[in-house]
Amino acid sequence: MRPALALLLLALAGCGGPVSQTDGRAAYQALNCRACHRIGDEGSPSAPDLTYVGFRKSPQWLNLWLKDPQAWKPDAMMPNLHLTAPTRHALVQYLTQQKGQALGDHKPWDAPALAKDPVERGHVIFGRAGCITCHGKGGIGGYPNNNVAGGKIPALTSVWETYTKEELIQKITRGSIPQKADPAGPDPMIDMPPWGQVLSKEDIQAVAAYVMSLKPADAKSAAGF
Ligand code: HEC
Ligand code: HEC
Repeated sequence: MRPALALLLLALAGCGGPVSQTDGRAAYQALNCRACHRIGDEGSPSAPDLTYVGFRKSPQWLNLWLKDPQAWKPDAMMPNLHLTAPTRHALVQYLTQQKGQALGDHKPWDAPALAKDPVERGHVIFGRAGCITCHGKGGIGGYPNNNVAGGKIPALTSVWETYTKEELIQKITRGSIPQKADPAGPDPMIDMPPWGQVLSKEDIQAVAAYVMSLKPADAKSAAGF
């Protein structure tokens, strides 16, 4: 889009009109989220990749997170940016639209160097599609959920002994909705997304091969997003 048009849309949004995707994108640029995050090929790999963030996280959760990351996850490294409500809403709208399209058909895990190594290919998917943002580095766990037994999203370091490869592929393809710890309480905010909607069969097989390879000891040495 031409800069003049983007400015015009920003000005219109500032007059109380509906918040457009353009100002969410502009806010994302202006606030320099890309100094830490990546969408498509742009930005930094030092924090979670946001290319699929709109597929894996709900608008309600994104809003809560951007308001106060530490309220959801006390040890979160993301700073509280003290955003105004309109900026936050515009960002939520922009993030909600990120369902993988920014990568087009250049998936980083399709690099020729990974073709013969499904486990490493799966490792790249685990990071870039964002399994890591719920299950932790090396599947070590520790990420919160509300109203679930133990208050956490499951670790994946003993899947190799509790699942067959087929069951695991089914689980990743279809996703699942966690049971409430207190039946009278609210729904948990975080579900296991149905990855069959955005990943190919081959991609799911590769990420399953990676998950099958995870042991508690490996998780300790895993680093980075
Ligand atoms: C200084 C680096 C830094 C900046 C700047 C930053 N973030 Fe983050 N962000 C992080 C880190 C680190 C995490 C992971 C927190 C964790 O897992 O404990 C994170 C997590 C997130 C998540 C959750 C990812 C997921 O899928 O669960 C979202 C969404 C997010 N950031 C959006 C933003 C937006 C939008 C901006 C700009 C307004 C921004 N961040 C600026 C470091 C940063
Ligand atoms: C938005 C958060 C989120 C993301 C992203 C996510 N998961 Fe999950 N996952 C969950 C939740 C929550 C559960 C628990 C579901 C339940 O209790 O029914 C779960 C459960 C699982 C399980 C079953 C674990 C067990 O002990 O039974 C596997 C395996 C799994 N996820 C793999 C993956 C893989 C592989 C990816 C990436 C392709 C992924 N997950 C991405 C939230 C997520």
